[in-house]
Amino acid sequence: MGFVRVCSLDDVWEGEMESFEVGDKEVLVAHLEGGDVVATQAICPHQQIELVEGELDKATLTCKAHLWRFDLATCEGINPGHARLARYPVKLDGDDVYVDPDGDTPKVAHS
Ligand code: FES
Repeated sequence: MGFVRVCSLDDVWEGEMESFEVGDKEVLVAHLEGGDVVATQAICPHQQIELVEGELDKATLTCKAHLWRFDLATCEGINPGHARLARYPVKLDGDDVYVDPDGDTPKVAHS
């Protein structure tokens, strides 16, 4: 599929995140403080919970269900450390955010 325009930076202000349908995937776009834009899976690797309903504090995303924490700068788990999130390639063109949904696959982890 390659890169697909997903949203504008106006749709996801700095410090916020939003989920979008991209092809057959649901992708979470997070606009981190400092300006980095990260695209990851929309569903928690633990259970079927939308990560967008969690909390974003700087680069740390906390799932609302069981408080698993992820570092969106790397998409690695903070707690538990074995959990990981997909990391989809992102390209910015002006204010337009492009994501390649084929660049990774959603991860699953068990407690
Ligand atoms: Fe996200 Fe359990 S579903 S931490």
